[in-house]
Amino acid sequence: MSCKLVVLASGRGSNLKAIIEAIKKGKINAEITLVISNKKDAGAIKIARENGIPAKVFEPSFFESRRGYDLYLVERIKKENPDLIVLAGYMRILSDEFIEAFEGKLVNIHPSLIPSFKGLNAQKKALEYGVKYTGATVHFVTKELDNGPIIIQAVVPVLPDDTEETLSQRILSWEHRVYPQAIKWICDGRVKVEGRKVIVEGAKYGEYPTNPSLEDF
Ligand code: GRF
Repeated sequence: MSCKLVVLASGRGSNLKAIIEAIKKGKINAEITLVISNKKDAGAIKIARENGIPAKVFEPSFFESRRGYDLYLVERIKKENPDLIVLAGYMRILSDEFIEAFEGKLVNIHPSLIPSFKGLNAQKKALEYGVKYTGATVHFVTKELDNGPIIIQAVVPVLPDDTEETLSQRILSWEHRVYPQAIKWICDGRVKVEGRKVIVEGAKYGEYPTNPSLEDF
């Protein structure tokens, strides 16, 4: 049976695009039933519509509170009966009620090696700190920001001449591989979570630059 996904995105939508392409190629046995954005001009909305995927914009300014907005989203998302809710550059802090409604079924990608450089501008923070490696992390979402159990990480080097743009781009090219891979593993029922520890059954651990190793991407 195909895995039902709802994707939340606020911006450009390049991760959404990578996921759509992976589904189209038959690499992930899934269907995106709805893309939701809080921004009407989000590239992600355009990408969804170009690919025939239902896309809705809900503007936060029409709601009285974050909680009210999120409760509306919860009801709307529940109608889709999704197996997984994918945050792909969704630039709003989620309320506890939202996270409780979908805990265990909610994943995010963050452009650093968590727990370093959580929150906004992770690439800029990594550059300013002077780390020599940073990366991308796919994790389950819990109430504490960018702190949930980690599914996969990719290590990305920082070069002396990097700008925020060049580093972001290098990380992004890995995001586009690890996110579809993590979604595939979840859809295939291979991801087990015990407390903070996530194990992908049958995956190969211990190599670089991603751990576990990519299988399909
Ligand atoms: C990515 O860098 C992702 O890690 C972060 O937001 C950015 C979204 O980019 N959470 P895009 O909209 O998928 O192109």
